[in-house]
Amino acid sequence: MRGPRTVLSNVIATQHELHEAYAGVVPEIASRAHLERIAPVVTEALREAGAAFGDLDAIAVGNRPGLIGSLLVGVSAAKALAWALGRPLIGIDHVHAHLVAGVLGAETLPAFPALGLVVSGGHTSLYRVPDLARVELLGRTIDDALGEAYDKSAAILGLGYPGGPALDALAQTGDDRAYDFPVAALARERLDFSFSGLKTALLYAACGQPRGRGAGAKFSRDASALSRDEKADLAASFQRAAVTAVIRKLRRAIGRHPDVRTLLVGGGVSANRRLRAELAALAADRGLDLRLPAPELCVDNAAMIAGMAMIRFERGDFDDLALGASARSAVTAHA
Ligand code: KG4
Ligand code: ZN
Repeated sequence: MRGPRTVLSNVIATQHELHEAYAGVVPEIASRAHLERIAPVVTEALREAGAAFGDLDAIAVGNRPGLIGSLLVGVSAAKALAWALGRPLIGIDHVHAHLVAGVLGAETLPAFPALGLVVSGGHTSLYRVPDLARVELLGRTIDDALGEAYDKSAAILGLGYPGGPALDALAQTGDDRAYDFPVAALARERLDFSFSGLKTALLYAACGQPRGRGAGAKFSRDASALSRDEKADLAASFQRAAVTAVIRKLRRAIGRHPDVRTLLVGGGVSANRRLRAELAALAADRGLDLRLPAPELCVDNAAMIAGMAMIRFERGDFDDLALGASARSAVTAHA
């Protein structure tokens, strides 16, 4: 049955193969690839949905945060479509949209207020969510995003890019108690996160203590000398510390906001097996309605942008053709 949150198509054009050689995203390569792929992606999305341009009620586009060159490709295409079709244009904050991914396909919306957690490659933030259109930032990472810590740690272990899924898979066969990695203990009253110390602890465990500092530091070992089992133990121990840090913060936030009924989670790292299992246990323990996205809706996707736009559409909250793009999210800075 088709409801207001039914996903009719969700086409993803990844560029991982273009950026793998650099172990990170190269902005110029990314924007060129967007330009080449946007028209075929739109065509494919309509075909998969069995829809024509005339069937669309509005055009939504992720216009922040991100690499400006890539965002502008999407914003320009969306404006052209909105103008040509005479339909409203809706610019969406990508980080905010990750929180909607868990309700896509759901027949009923959960109860509010909710606690919202976004764990992606670029962001790690915790929110109180009075309703899906509004978020109040409770905490965020003060250094690396969780996905970034996964990717950097995976790079240390030589697992390729993006490394999160590979590290997750390797961790399944490792001993998560082999190493006692630090769980960042920021001041008790804070709901912020920190993951750069964990990544450094993994680096030292894998390569030994460095002689010298910064880029000139020399390590006694190379991680490529580690056996698969040793790498699996490092991965599992990393994952235990990383997930424990997230769960502890959530427990603290729930304690401070006892009115929350629902736990909304999104972003690439919410595909992580250990995190999903521990979130389910936490939600069961606290009687919360956990809304976890299907794995393909955890990572960046267009369906969540449309899902967020639905909420704005129902309120008649549209943008005009002067819509810009921004490198920064509107929802990740403390007021
Ligand atoms: O939300 P997303 O697709 O992009 C951003 O908005 O950043 O998140 C991508 C991040 C990457 O860091 C990737 O390594 C991580 O999500 N990721 C995972 C897993 N799947 C994706 N991290 C840990 N375990 C996974 N299974
Ligand atoms: Zn994302």
